[in-house]
Amino acid sequence: MSMPPSSLRSLPPEGAARLRPGEAGSAAQAGSGADAAYVQRRGEIEDYFDRTALKAWEQLTSTAPVGRIRATVRAGRERMRSTLMGCLPQDLRGARVLDAGCGTGALALDAAARGAEVVAIDLSPSLVNVARERVAQLLASHPVAGRIDFRSGDMLSPQLGGFDYVVAMDSLIHYDEADMVRVLESWAQRTRSAMVFTFAPRNPALAAMRAVGRLFPRANRAPWIEPVAEKSLRARLTRSVPQFELGRTQRISSGFYTSQALELVRP
Ligand SMILES: C[S@@+](CC[C@H](N)C(=O)[O-])C[C@H]1O[C@@H](n2cnc3c(N)ncnc32)[C@H](O)[C@@H]1O
Repeated sequence: MSMPPSSLRSLPPEGAARLRPGEAGSAAQAGSGADAAYVQRRGEIEDYFDRTALKAWEQLTSTAPVGRIRATVRAGRERMRSTLMGCLPQDLRGARVLDAGCGTGALALDAAARGAEVVAIDLSPSLVNVARERVAQLLASHPVAGRIDFRSGDMLSPQLGGFDYVVAMDSLIHYDEADMVRVLESWAQRTRSAMVFTFAPRNPALAAMRAVGRLFPRANRAPWIEPVAEKSLRARLTRSVPQFELGRTQRISSGFYTSQALELVRP
């Protein structure tokens, strides 16, 4: 695995993998808003994070030494995590928070440290196991006020119930704009205060890297990231999630990492 998994310079595989029967469930299981393209994409993402990129992702999100390029990605991701946490209240006691696409669980731990009851869910059961183990070790020496319920599955599942806050760090970036907005529409019906998520801002440099990346062997590619034009995303969100207002936004660029946070707040 030579490319940083969170890099926004990761690329589309040449052929779309087919969803294997039973691998990631059906559209109906995913709940409202899921269509066949979403279900197929979800299967590809699960396969990638649970198998191909597991070790690399585990390392990137740890404190183990990494090369120069990954160090820029790690630094950018840390800034993004603190940006997203900056959109949540300091005191989250009594609040229910969804960490959507939790990976190895760092953001869930931040929210629990503020007292939240966190549901942290990821498609990759292996990443969720890593998260459980890491968090259990940390909590043994530094207990926090909140709690984390780690689960593997689809962050879109209505069975997760209602939340005060939903945070999606670099998990919606793997879906196209239409699916991204459909997921937010579905969460909007179950979110009481705010949703904060990231998207990959469309820019010429990213487009060029996507083109160059097609030269990489398939096994080395992250599942592609879908660059989104901010103006178009804002317009679509204004139409599709009218009960929320667009709030703060912050773009983080650090070497091979570029991602933009956007907040949707209930007035
Ligand atoms: C780039 S990683 C980010 C992980 C974590 N949020 C972080 O920032 O460290 C994207 C994660 O989103 C998860 N993901 C993508 N689509 C998902 C879905 N529909 N349900 C649950 N997890 C999903 C992937 O499995 C992957 O672990």
